Amino acid sequence: MRLLVLGATGLLGREVVRSAVRRGHQVLALGGSREPSAPRGVEVGRLARGDLAAAERWILDRFPEGIVNAAAMADVNECERDPEGARLANARLPERLAQLAHHVGARFVHVSTDMVFDGRGAPYRSTDPASPVNAYGRSKLEGEAAVMAAAGHGACVVRSTPILGNTPGGDRTVHERLFLDWKAGKVSGLFAEEIRQPVAVTNLADVCVELAERDNLSGIFHWGGRDAMSRHEMGVRIARRFGLDPAGLVRPVNYADIPDLPPRPRDLSVELRPLEGKLRTQPMGFDEILDELEVPRGCEAWWRERTGGEVVRRLVEGLDF
Ligand SMILES: NC(=O)c1ccc[n+]([C@@H]2O[C@H](COP(=O)([O-])OP(=O)(O)OC[C@H]3O[C@@H](n4cnc5c(N)ncnc54)[C@H](OP(=O)(O)O)[C@@H]3O)[C@@H](O)[C@H]2O)c1
Repeated sequence: MRLLVLGATGLLGREVVRSAVRRGHQVLALGGSREPSAPRGVEVGRLARGDLAAAERWILDRFPEGIVNAAAMADVNECERDPEGARLANARLPERLAQLAHHVGARFVHVSTDMVFDGRGAPYRSTDPASPVNAYGRSKLEGEAAVMAAAGHGACVVRSTPILGNTPGGDRTVHERLFLDWKAGKVSGLFAEEIRQPVAVTNLADVCVELAERDNLSGIFHWGGRDAMSRHEMGVRIARRFGLDPAGLVRPVNYADIPDLPPRPRDLSVELRPLEGKLRTQPMGFDEILDELEVPRGCEAWWRERTGGEVVRRLVEGLDF
């Protein structure tokens, strides 16, 4: 199918492009402020932040059969500083995309977040009432409602849990940020009381593309990994995965230890049903997710010195962009 991917310079969007190419789709990849790099055959472009008219031109010129929206203001602190920008990226843009998708008869897959919940009612089902505690969650919840109102039965909203994976910059995801701390000689303080259910970026990307391929699924769904755990446990297991001793690299922290901590959802574990069971793509256990993580770019020498290990990079022929 002709598939339009928005947010293709981001952590998830980049992987959605790879997944779609692997599955044989004709892909049009749009970044935000940057132009995505993509394999030959993929048309690329940019959508300056909030440019709804440009989104309209891309869609009405190309008539995609499916659209995956991975574009977002996904940084919680940035959303708090700029709530209007957050609403534009996370609610107005998806709303317009959903209207256009409906207009051209395209399937619309929109990515949302577990942060629409307040963390007091886990494990969450996709039908549970949402009550976000910050500007990011509020803007994403507004986007979900707008998408469902505009595109109805042609649309899926996938609420994702925290996304793990490798990025070209080596500074975006959980394990990459931990490595940056460790390389700088810091001990990472990680909340022992905060529960999350991380997902692999590759797995979530496959789910997004599979949902675009399916015309018999619509509504709001949850997706994540199989295993929920505390942020501290996540850090310990990440250190061990790379042959590092967690003692001296991570330490447990409690909410009470941080003065003036803004509200944070404590437990965001989610039920993967009913989506699990309807898809060919299966959720991954945390050990499988860890297997996909690589030593971040820029941290190779530090890691080699610590462990004597050889850095292995998984390059997929034709897709190593
Ligand atoms: N990361 C996580 O752990 C996580 C967890 C749960 C849910 N999610 C959700 O997953 C989706 C993807 O997140 P991500 O982590 O991949 O985000 P990301 O790495 O920050 O990438 C965001 C993408 O959106 C583009 N963008 C930002 N504002 C835009 C705008 N106003 N108009 C058009 N494009 C815009 C960016 O373009 P440029 O960079 O080129 O400007 C980039 O391509 C989002 O919906 C997010 O809410 C993420």
